Amino acid sequence: MESMPIDPGAAAIRSVVLAGATDFAGFRVACRTLWAEQVEPSRVDWHTAEDPEGDLFADPAGRRGDVGSMRPATSSGAVVESSPLRIPPRLMSAIESAALHRDPGRFALLYRLVWRMQTEPHLRDDALDADVVHVQQMAQAVRRDMHKMKAFVRFRTVEEDARLGPTQALDRDISESLATYDANAAAEVEAEAELAESEGPAAPHADGPLHVAWFEPEHHVVEATAPFFVRRFTAMRWAILTPERSVEWDGSRLVLGPGARRDQAPPADAGERLWLTYYESIFNPARLKVAMMKREMPVRYWKNLPEAPLIGGLVAHANERSARMVDRPATDPSPRHAVAPVTARETRSATGGAAPTGIDTLAAALDRCRECPIGEHATQAVPGEGGTKPRLMFVGEQPGDVEDLRGRPFVGPAGQLFDRALKQLGIDRRDTWVTNAVKHFKFELRGKRRIHKTPAQQEAAACLHWLESEIDLVDPGAIVALGATAARQLMGTAVAVTRQRGQWLRRSDGRRVLITLHPSALLRMEAEHRDTAWEAWLADLRHAADAMREPPA
Ligand code: URA
Repeated sequence: MESMPIDPGAAAIRSVVLAGATDFAGFRVACRTLWAEQVEPSRVDWHTAEDPEGDLFADPAGRRGDVGSMRPATSSGAVVESSPLRIPPRLMSAIESAALHRDPGRFALLYRLVWRMQTEPHLRDDALDADVVHVQQMAQAVRRDMHKMKAFVRFRTVEEDARLGPTQALDRDISESLATYDANAAAEVEAEAELAESEGPAAPHADGPLHVAWFEPEHHVVEATAPFFVRRFTAMRWAILTPERSVEWDGSRLVLGPGARRDQAPPADAGERLWLTYYESIFNPARLKVAMMKREMPVRYWKNLPEAPLIGGLVAHANERSARMVDRPATDPSPRHAVAPVTARETRSATGGAAPTGIDTLAAALDRCRECPIGEHATQAVPGEGGTKPRLMFVGEQPGDVEDLRGRPFVGPAGQLFDRALKQLGIDRRDTWVTNAVKHFKFELRGKRRIHKTPAQQEAAACLHWLESEIDLVDPGAIVALGATAARQLMGTAVAVTRQRGQWLRRSDGRRVLITLHPSALLRMEAEHRDTAWEAWLADLRHAADAMREPPA
């Protein structure tokens, strides 16, 4: 942050140049300095180093100084001791979000509000004050933009040599001018890496393919949203390109680079075609609500969504497809599922209701998934199953040997233990949804026996979007993570299961996740510990039983 009077003689207008559009730390320092010197909001011009043209009066030389290394200083150059500024925490968080709004007048508005908070004590309780309302609205717009970025970023896998498509230049730009990402994000990543280490090997997969996405946020949200992608796709190498910023994760380090052009993002690839086929197949014409769809998926994001070109055609033919769906007789089980004596459909018919929208088609698309090598060797994908509108979703690790053959989750030895626990807790399995973090069985052949192998982090990451789609479709009130793989998949970061079991964690989408052991962990225990472990497990699961009985939110 750089702060200087425009006209030293008059010392009337102060020009503050922040290091960048997202320099909130600099803004805080500037606020403290300006308040300490009692510089009224009307006497401050705010700028960012990237956008100095906005200021018609400030000294250009001053604006291009070493902004990153500035300390809060008075106009005479003396460093100012920070003066206490009082802001209610609720408003502080709104100010922090609003600072990322694209409105160039945001810093002036925010400083005015900070100033008024000190000089007009009644403002704390005035939720209808015009400045307060304006800041809250800006904060909301920014949070919404962050949410949209999380929802609408679509990665495409690129070949190493063709890394960022035709230009190549961007790749060079990124590696040459990338600045290490903000200290907060780095600290967060380090903390996660530390935890992951203590949980066992979670080495970065720097050799995996690079996944690149193009996104056009409305506000300055790239840095603030990047940690979400780190947590979600820790084991993947990825880059998100936007017109203002690029951010890249190499499996262990998050780096920030310059903006990019849309044509520097890679073209569609096979992975995207698979996603399009899936999107087309889960589109339920009978559930079509165009207005709601536009609200949730605003048209401005469509141009960068690979599935968007399908929407027009799907909407246009919705009535016709819907009528065909109603007329169509029930389909026979596919030949691959012929080995499964009990199918998911039978479970659902036992509940007397249809499956949630798109779940059947999700299951069919799952079976064709080859986004990691596991699917090639398994008998079939094992989709989730359960009742309609389940209050609770249980997520295991991956199907076992029996599940792989029967095509249903938790029907082998671990499933029997799981069923026993549900019974003891008075939970009807048909009122829940039971599924796995990874949808195919990973095993190693020893003679004729197929021995369970834990899925690698990269394999779980490849499977993540299936689970997330399933959560969206099933929309459970709460989720139970059975074991470390499920917990990591659901929370996007390693969870210390033995330490956090029995606790509810909150996902970034707001859903609650109860952490507990996988039933196989109990099966593996020495006989003398089993009874105690069983009781402790039931105690964990009792929280889930209680949540199921709570009135719906
Ligand atoms: N273990 C799991 O995690 N899931 C199953 O479906 C079976 C065993």
